[in-house]
Amino acid sequence: MIQVDLIIINAGELLSLKGSHLPRIGKEMNDLGIIINGAVALSSGEIKAVGTTEAILDKYESDNVIDVEGKIVMPGFVDPHTHPVFYHTRENEFEMRILGKSYVEISQSGGGIRSSIAAVRKASEDQLFQLAKKRILKMITQGTTTLEAKSGYGLSTESELKMLRVIKRLDEELPIDIIPTFMGAHEFPNEYINNKDEYVRILKEEMMPQVIHDHLAEFCDIFTEDHVYGIELSRDILNRAKDLGFKIRMHVDEIKPLGGAELAAEMGAVSAEHLGAASDKGIQALKDKNVVAVLLPGTIFSLGMKNYARARDMIDRGVTVALATDYNPGSCNCDSMQFIITLATLQMKMTVAEAITASTVNAAYSLQRYNTGSIEPGKQGDILIMDMPSYRYLPYHFGSNNVDTVIKNGKIIYQSAPNISY
Ligand code: NIG
Ligand code: FE
Repeated sequence: MIQVDLIIINAGELLSLKGSHLPRIGKEMNDLGIIINGAVALSSGEIKAVGTTEAILDKYESDNVIDVEGKIVMPGFVDPHTHPVFYHTRENEFEMRILGKSYVEISQSGGGIRSSIAAVRKASEDQLFQLAKKRILKMITQGTTTLEAKSGYGLSTESELKMLRVIKRLDEELPIDIIPTFMGAHEFPNEYINNKDEYVRILKEEMMPQVIHDHLAEFCDIFTEDHVYGIELSRDILNRAKDLGFKIRMHVDEIKPLGGAELAAEMGAVSAEHLGAASDKGIQALKDKNVVAVLLPGTIFSLGMKNYARARDMIDRGVTVALATDYNPGSCNCDSMQFIITLATLQMKMTVAEAITASTVNAAYSLQRYNTGSIEPGKQGDILIMDMPSYRYLPYHFGSNNVDTVIKNGKIIYQSAPNISY
């Protein structure tokens, strides 16, 4: 018998998501690699073996066996698009939208991203760290085991670097993996609103080289939209980012069909995100250039809009589709990948299996993390035990947390504990 650190047995369904080390496209997205009465053996933080409970217990033993008694075992969620470092929340804007103002109107009348800047600039690094830590711990309780996090509420060299150092510390001190993205091109700060060229110069000549020098971000992102960075300006900024060695992610075609998806393809971006207004040509370009479409239905929901991304067209054309929360203080204060899966199924007509694939293995590959997102030998032990009778239950039971246990690198980092006394 082989001794291991942990064995999980008796999963009603174990969603292994096994497959090639390539993103899942088209019909592959419906294949969750389900093992009925499944089990998994883990050692040194890694997955050693996956199979039926009988097969695993035949070969492996451990002092630490978790009998999940029919619950669902699946990979941890990977959330590949979030903005978790900010100072104050903006629930006032949520209500303004209910009363009829649009996101762009609010942003042009002094709200929006720019209203988050002053407080972030004033806050200490430790204050920002403590606030973001609390938010991310809540994400963990909802099953997120890998997270991308963007800067973009500092918009000065000093404050953008401060945000990125906070993200680095979050990665070091919290038990999940947090991947940093530089987003100095999120907006224009007030002091450069009439001198945008100078802000672009600072971005290209001061911020970006410093971020690279300090190894503070792997990706560079930009908000390519009519009211912020247009196509020409985005191309110019991203060319500089690429020259410096950044990999590219982009916020594109969220509100208007500007040709952002086409630009993402032209730039060789790793991902194009939002895409509610993407054109047919843009969708085809994503397919042709292997750009991952990261869809953010929570944002459309929270903005009270109707233009959910055309996930069906994308999947049918063979575009790699991933899902993310877009957690941020303005357009989408949603920290639950489970709720995003509910929206993806109901509003974008993704099947439950497609939405799970998009929230695990495809989301991991959109971050170029090939060591998580599925339960396969050699991968990190990033696993959820879900209190559900079948995987199809996940979006059906919405507005509730179906997570029973979160395991990261083979260690339990969260266990739900109903503590109501009666
Ligand atoms: O993805 N689009 C840009 N960034 C966020 C909004 C950030 C904010 O409103 O503070 C988004 O929707
Ligand atoms: Fe965003």
